[in-house]
Amino acid sequence: MSEGQVIIVGAGVLGLSCAVQLSRSGHSVTVIARDLPGDSHIDYASPWAGAHFRPSPAKTPAEQLEQQLMRDTYNELEVLAQEQPESGVKIVPAIEYFDAAHADSFLATENGYVDWPDFRILESEEYPAHHESIQLGVTYRSWVLNSPVYLQWCQRQGEKQGVRFVRANVTSMEEAVSLFQDKHRQGGASNIRAVVNATGRGFDDPNSYPSRGQFIIVSNQCDNTISHHWADGSSTVIIPRPLGGGTVIGGTKEPNNWSEDISSAATDTILKRVGQLCPELVNQETTATDDTHGFDIREVYIARRPMRRGGLRLEQENTSQGTPLIHCYGAGPSGFKISWGVAKKVELMVSNVQMLVNDPVDVSPD
Ligand SMILES: Cc1cc2nc3c(=O)[nH]c(=O)nc-3n(C[C@H](O)[C@H](O)[C@H](O)COP(=O)(O)OP(=O)(O)OC[C@H]3O[C@@H](n4cnc5c(N)ncnc54)[C@H](O)[C@@H]3O)c2cc1C
Ligand SMILES: *[C@@H]1O[C@H](CO)[C@@H](O)[C@H](O)[C@H]1NC(C)=O
Ligand SMILES: *[C@@H]1O[C@H](CO)[C@@H](O)[C@H](O)[C@H]1NC(C)=O
Ligand SMILES: *[C@@H]1O[C@H](CO)[C@@H](O)[C@H](O)[C@H]1NC(C)=O
Ligand SMILES: *[C@@H]1O[C@H](CO)[C@@H](O)[C@H](O)[C@H]1NC(C)=O
Repeated sequence: MSEGQVIIVGAGVLGLSCAVQLSRSGHSVTVIARDLPGDSHIDYASPWAGAHFRPSPAKTPAEQLEQQLMRDTYNELEVLAQEQPESGVKIVPAIEYFDAAHADSFLATENGYVDWPDFRILESEEYPAHHESIQLGVTYRSWVLNSPVYLQWCQRQGEKQGVRFVRANVTSMEEAVSLFQDKHRQGGASNIRAVVNATGRGFDDPNSYPSRGQFIIVSNQCDNTISHHWADGSSTVIIPRPLGGGTVIGGTKEPNNWSEDISSAATDTILKRVGQLCPELVNQETTATDDTHGFDIREVYIARRPMRRGGLRLEQENTSQGTPLIHCYGAGPSGFKISWGVAKKVELMVSNVQMLVNDPVDVSPD
């Protein structure tokens, strides 16, 4: 067991992945969070996510780092899907259709697609019927996961490795530290090895902002994840949720829209577009007057992606009391895709922290 506690503020996919990774490698970890797995709140992004893997471009250095984080995460989730399917992770074929992309330019490595398992360009006969707008279709092997089930699995995994969970709404990292110290009645900030800020969009970073997403969970079953990228920049996605979670379909992407109100026009557009994209998904008994367009709707919901101008913040500084503070927030639309890669980077930073020599913690003589 390494010296000193690691306090993680936040129990979304990033905080939980860090907790599992750090405890697995011998650190003692306490997670402090306002929302915990099982909770539902518009500002707790993780349980609302589809969630699936989609490649993204690898042109800039920041995008190349993201590729590496996605690669690490993919490898970890592939093993989980095989060895612990109760985690809610499953490997499925992914299909993507583009209205504004062409095969020649698409095949460049820096486009981020070609190197993923089972990648191939689809024949036009494989496109859905009545979709003349599609210019390019691709397929590759992806993962999907049932996010509420997965978050609870991560919490249990952490608990088995000794992670403690404390529910609290804090206004600063210093408050999280003193809350921990009060609970354990062991003075001295030097007992704390590091604090990890995994608060999503949390508080007081002027660069953080929400992107509103309206999505629908339906009971209709689909075996693949399917995405259609329209020429206007919008996307339609179909993401199966393993272990009886139905299928997540959507959705909207509305930066800086704080509205919590469901738009019935958006619901209608999503149902229509998804029905055309994957006719097999729709109940064939349906009538033209059916306003659910052949879907069995479980829930229509609004969520907020934790965006940040400048992208994910993954870096180290110190709190005003000198405790190492590691930021990992602002994952926007990609928190699940990069989660294990981020957790490994955080572990490296935590392991490199030099504890003070006059540390008052009991050290067993050996
Ligand atoms: C509809 C939708 C679909 C998505 N689909 C995908 C997908 O397919 N693939 C993918 O990779 N990503 C997807 N995402 C994005 C993904 O959900 C987010 O990037 C990810 O959940 C962010 O996780 P997080 O841990 O940073 O934040 P969160 O899940 O928001 O967790 C933040 C944590 O910090 C805590 N916290 C915040 N402030 C405080 C405070 N003051 N005091 C104490 N605790 C605090 C919260 O209570 C919570 O525990 C999707 C998002 C949405 C909304
Ligand atoms: C958390 O604390 C902030 C700031 O004090 C407050 O505005 C917010 O309502 C609190 N949230 C919850 C869920 O208690
Ligand atoms: C922790 O992260 C939040 C974003 O969720 C940010 O607003 C805040 O400034 C960070 N805390 C500190 C102490 O930097
Ligand atoms: C935000 O979304 C709501 C609900 O769809 C919509 O009515 C409103 O016009 C949007 N606001 C902005 C500023 O786009
Ligand atoms: C944090 O504090 C330590 C010890 O005082 C110092 O060595 C280190 O450089 C500081 N790190 C940062 C990122 O400021």
